[in-house]
Amino acid sequence: MAASHLFVCIILCTYYSVAHGGDDDEHGFVTVLTSRSFQPEAAECSTSRVNLEPSRATAFVPLAHRHGPCAPSSQTSEMPSFTERLRRSRARANYIMSRASKGTVSTLADDDDANVTIPAHLGGSVDSLEYVVTVGLGTPAVPQVVLMDTGSDLSWVQCAPCNSTACYPQKDPLFDPSKSSTYAPIPCDTGACRNLTADDYGDGCVTSGGGSQCAFAIEYGDGSHTRGVYSKETLTLAPGVTVEDFHFGCADDQDGSNDRYDGLVGLGGAPESLVVRTSSVYGGAFSYCLPAQNSEAGFLALGGAPSANTSGFVFTPMRVEVATFYVVNLTGISVGGKQLDIPPAVFSKSTGMVIDSGTVVTELPNTAYSALRTAFRSAMTAYPLLPPNDDLGVDTCYNLTGFSNVTVPTVALTFDGGVRIDLDVPNGILLEGCLAFQEAGPDEFPGILGNVNQRTFEVLYDVSHGKVGFRAGAC
Ligand SMILES: *[C@@H]1O[C@H](CO)[C@@H](O)[C@H](O)[C@H]1NC(C)=O
Ligand SMILES: *[C@@H]1O[C@H](CO)[C@@H](O)[C@H](O)[C@H]1NC(C)=O
Ligand SMILES: *[C@@H]1O[C@H](CO)[C@@H](O)[C@H](O)[C@H]1NC(C)=O
Ligand SMILES: *[C@@H]1O[C@H](CO)[C@@H](O)[C@H](O)[C@H]1NC(C)=O
Ligand SMILES: *[C@@H]1O[C@H](CO)[C@@H](O)[C@H](O)[C@H]1NC(C)=O
Ligand SMILES: *[C@@H]1O[C@H](CO)[C@@H](O)[C@H](O)[C@H]1NC(C)=O
Ligand SMILES: *[C@@H]1O[C@H](CO)[C@@H](O)[C@H](O)[C@H]1NC(C)=O
Repeated sequence: MAASHLFVCIILCTYYSVAHGGDDDEHGFVTVLTSRSFQPEAAECSTSRVNLEPSRATAFVPLAHRHGPCAPSSQTSEMPSFTERLRRSRARANYIMSRASKGTVSTLADDDDANVTIPAHLGGSVDSLEYVVTVGLGTPAVPQVVLMDTGSDLSWVQCAPCNSTACYPQKDPLFDPSKSSTYAPIPCDTGACRNLTADDYGDGCVTSGGGSQCAFAIEYGDGSHTRGVYSKETLTLAPGVTVEDFHFGCADDQDGSNDRYDGLVGLGGAPESLVVRTSSVYGGAFSYCLPAQNSEAGFLALGGAPSANTSGFVFTPMRVEVATFYVVNLTGISVGGKQLDIPPAVFSKSTGMVIDSGTVVTELPNTAYSALRTAFRSAMTAYPLLPPNDDLGVDTCYNLTGFSNVTVPTVALTFDGGVRIDLDVPNGILLEGCLAFQEAGPDEFPGILGNVNQRTFEVLYDVSHGKVGFRAGAC
């Protein structure tokens, strides 16, 4: 008991000294040392800031940025360029906004002003996904490093046998169903198989060579795909914590780019999702904490906050859109402690903000973005604004070379119910010296709450109770 209190205290003390250490933020500004936040990151993984209620730690899975030192070493591959990361983020955002609005808005393509409507049956590219978790699959459990995705539902891993033409090279051995005593394909004649087609994850029952199997297929907008056999297995989340009837795609036909991860775990709101599949055990709730920096660890946890004790969380209503996406309503933004003058009607025109683990930069409809940019720029006049670079897509970047510290205005977002979250300074606001927000399109567009803004919060998706919680300083 004493030990666990000490543990929490150490973590809280570290957190507060980081968040409030440089200067006081009474006036809406925080001074941070550039050596801590804007220079190449530590090569060692730090887990010291993870702050999880011990009573909630049952289905707790360590989470890491896939290109950082906390990712399992077999998975670390070189980080794509900043421009490339932003391009991937924008492509994913376009897909989500198009789907979330059910095709009622067309998103703008990257390079020109042509409208692109993304057909609803195409999945979002997984290239942009940056956070991985390690789970155990099968019996005996084999560790699999999978991308975490709140923007899709169907989990999948590459399965043996699969030659180097049909599967991409991953660093871990392929998952081999023949070596697991609990593996089974899902029969055609089941509700689960029939649902695949309805949820755009393939054709369901396919007859080939005298037999039939439940086939899944995820087709992506760039023409690539992931296909294989819809299957069930035992999934191990943590030592002794298993999901007996985990549904996933055993993929033996891949096409397209990859970064050598073993697969993906889908946490969206459709029936294929791990969250929905396990709702009788975990109550249709999950949470994660994305760390402030890539050299730090975070966590993914299944299950909600104990209903008796939601202290530390603030909650806003949430709805599930298009079966998959989690949507909240943004109602206000403040910069440097001052509420921006954005009429409520501007926010209510939008169809809401999708909270997404895979989009990097937050997408705001036009009027809200313009107001934020103007206020942020006027609070940052001490630093040279870099000239616009169309390749980046973000337009408020600073050259912080030569500054030993930077005084950054606080940015707070307010959601329905008056719930305010103060973004981490600077790691929840700035990415490589750039304001981690961009313009999504006209005010009618949906927005997306990207993963930079979510850093250090435990974000709790309580799907059964229709609410999202935020707890500051969770990692
Ligand atoms: C894109 O769509 C908008 C709204 O539907 C329309 O006003 C605009 O002209 C379109 N742009 C192009 C290049 O087609
Ligand atoms: C790889 O497997 C696929 C499908 O099983 C097959 O069509 C292809 O010929 C194989 N390629 C090689 C190089 O063995
Ligand atoms: C199939 O989808 C329906 C509608 O979303 C859902 O209620 C049902 O539980 C699903 N069945 C299975 C076996 O996933
Ligand atoms: C609720 O959690 C907080 C820490 O988040 C703890 O200090 C408090 O004692 C807990 N209350 C109950 C009733 O368990
Ligand atoms: C968000 O706003 C829309 C339109 O103003 C409303 O219909 C919806 O109930 C609100 N709440 C959520 C959680 O979407
Ligand atoms: C950033 O500032 C440094 C120091 O003032 C300067 O040497 C460098 O050229 C600037 N970089 C850019 C991209 O403007
Ligand atoms: C920030 O840097 C300026 C100039 O380099 C220096 O005068 C000031 O003391 C520094 N502030 C903090 C809090 O380190």
